[in-house]
Amino acid sequence: MDIVLSGSGSALPEKNLTNDDLSRIVDTSDEWIKSRTGIVDRHICKEDEPLSLLALKSAQKALEMSGIKGSQLELIVAGTSSPDRNFPGCACDVQAGLGAEGAVCFDVSAACSGFIYAVHVAESMMRASGYKNALVIGADALSRHIDWTDRTTCVLFGDGAAAAVLVSGEFGGRGIIASSLGSDGSRGACLTCGSIGEDKKLYMDGSEVFKFAIRKVPENIQETINKSGLKKEDISLFVLHQANKRIIEMVAKKLGLSEERFPINLEYTGNTSGASIPILLDELIRAKRIKKGDNILLSGFGAGLTWGSLIFKY
Ligand code: ACO
Repeated sequence: MDIVLSGSGSALPEKNLTNDDLSRIVDTSDEWIKSRTGIVDRHICKEDEPLSLLALKSAQKALEMSGIKGSQLELIVAGTSSPDRNFPGCACDVQAGLGAEGAVCFDVSAACSGFIYAVHVAESMMRASGYKNALVIGADALSRHIDWTDRTTCVLFGDGAAAAVLVSGEFGGRGIIASSLGSDGSRGACLTCGSIGEDKKLYMDGSEVFKFAIRKVPENIQETINKSGLKKEDISLFVLHQANKRIIEMVAKKLGLSEERFPINLEYTGNTSGASIPILLDELIRAKRIKKGDNILLSGFGAGLTWGSLIFKY
């Protein structure tokens, strides 16, 4: 049985925050942020703008592309670590907005790897229990957890949401080919964020996260390629979590691949955590940079620590 991606959609908040805006809030500069991260601009939810509304907008676009109606959906899985509230979850809010009465809905929390984990959960449920379709969402609004006086973190993150529709059937070998996920809770302290009081603020040891990413991500990508039976050369594009341009460049270098195969949009999104991979994926599909038959690798990494990659034939 093949499980293919039949639609995608994304949504960014209207309000944006440039590096120059940030330099008026904390002691930083456009030059510092750009050279260390590649980020120039990011979008931030207004105080009364629910993340689930962004998720719903992205879901509507993904359903429109796939031709599936909300009422036909069987499963909705949202990868998010910053839902509007602890419960009901983001997936249930989206269900209500879509009128997807027949869907089973829940959230998966795996920070910046959230979308990859959510796709893997949905795929596994489709294979094991016969769900015929699934809406998978990646959505985060870390701006609500940022300490806006801490220049080491407030310049890095943006908000956003994106969705993908998965459909099962016989599609001539297209669809998800291989995935490989991992976690290391013993190193979780280097990137944390709670839900109440002071603990609600995001804490990050940037250099520890940087070292983790440039060591683990190439390993995990190679492992996933080996599992798939493909070669590096067979992969058209590597769609990585958009945390930092330097991390992506170093991953490409370690794999001995040209940076051109590692598309980037973080200059105008910032790090949107669990939303970053599906936002970029949707942009590439709509720009026709991803074509039928292309092998695409998605790779996420972040708090937990968690990481994971998957390869699919579009
Ligand atoms: N503006 C100006 N100066 C700054 C800023 C800022 N925004 N932030 C830090 N600095 C200063 C520091 O205080 C330090 O000054 P000092 O030397 O006087 O002490 C100097 O810049 C260098 O700081 P470093 O932390 O060494 O800077 P580095 O080059 O390591 O870059 C960064 C920091 C960008 C955070 C980097 O470590 C990084 O990208 N880490 C990975 C972070 C990441 O990707 N996190 C998310 C991944 S997981 C997820 O997505 C949830």
